[in-house]
Amino acid sequence: MTEAPGTPLLDVKDLHVEFATRDGTVRAVNGVSYAVDAGQTLAVLGESGSGKSVTAQAVMGILDIPPGRITGGRILFRGRDLLRASREERRAIRGEQMAMIFQDALSSLNPVHSVGIQLAEMFRVHRGMSRKDGKAKAVELMDRVRIPAARERVNDYPHQFSGGMRQRIMIAMALALEPALIIADEPTTALDVTVQAQVMDLLSELRREYRMGLILITHDLGVVADVADRIAVMYAGRIVEHAPVRDLYRSPAHPYTKGLLESVPRLDRKGKELYAIKGLPPNLLHVPPGCPFHPRCPLARDICVTDPPPLYEGMGEGRSSACHFWKETLGER
Ligand SMILES: Nc1ncnc2c1ncn2[C@@H]1O[C@H](COP(=O)(O)OP(=O)(O)OP(=O)(O)O)[C@@H](O)[C@H]1O
Ligand code: SF4
Ligand SMILES: [Mg+2]
Repeated sequence: MTEAPGTPLLDVKDLHVEFATRDGTVRAVNGVSYAVDAGQTLAVLGESGSGKSVTAQAVMGILDIPPGRITGGRILFRGRDLLRASREERRAIRGEQMAMIFQDALSSLNPVHSVGIQLAEMFRVHRGMSRKDGKAKAVELMDRVRIPAARERVNDYPHQFSGGMRQRIMIAMALALEPALIIADEPTTALDVTVQAQVMDLLSELRREYRMGLILITHDLGVVADVADRIAVMYAGRIVEHAPVRDLYRSPAHPYTKGLLESVPRLDRKGKELYAIKGLPPNLLHVPPGCPFHPRCPLARDICVTDPPPLYEGMGEGRSSACHFWKETLGER
């Protein structure tokens, strides 16, 4: 199945997700829209609790329902609305056409089976292969994700691999059925910096080779500069800025993005103090009125306290910013 020309691979429109909790309703996702094309990488960035994972879980169909509830919006995959699909259809799409990579490979892999068995099982269940052929495919895949001595290691258990190697096995599992879309949720957060870069490069290379769409969720701006095409910045369950990666780095159009960028170390500013955005992200049970960023924003004025900013366009092609004062914010860094 491929999409009609002009139809994005994945098109999330005005998605709303809530959680019923003892203390009240947590509005975790408030009107998020983003799209990814085949062969493209969208980075989703934002502090902890901004709704990055919940949005991804809704797309994958693995949201905790209840307490979670999708209260509005559409999730179009190759033009088909997943929120209207049957449970069986969703399961089939999830297995074959989209896959997810999580931060913690150790808890995502089964500790009592060798990695070879786990990979082979994918081919047995979904492709009707024999155990032996599945195992051969497993070795092939382990080679593809550059696990040294794959043939010798195929019968090893997850705990016998280093963190970086385990993450490669997770990538191999996700790639096994050659899905059209991969969502990687903080895939390198638990790894050392050098290993992070290697895993990220691998993911990026495979995405190109397989022409997959990739959604890369991270709170690390340093990671995305080289691998993403577009960035969506989330705050309090909303997208506050959306832009091609180069434009966003060169001239952010939202004070929150600007703050995030100024808190990343830069070689050309060595020795200068790093900026930190003051305060904390809001409790989603009590989101501030107007612009939810106003208590932390150095540019906030009266209107920001009363009027929620819409997503303004006009700062460049494919760009938008939810800030009343995007024009003042925009500018070379
Ligand atoms: N099962 C749940 N029950 C109640 N609230 C939840 C549940 N899952 C998520 N939430 C809430 O939804 C909000 C968004 O969470 P989400 O996991 O999407 O954040 P995130 O941006 O992925 O953060 P992080 O960077 O920490 O992973 C949070 O306030 C969280 O407490
Ligand atoms: S709308 Fe106001 S408070 Fe919100 S980001 Fe813009 S200037 Fe800051
Ligand atoms: Mg998360």
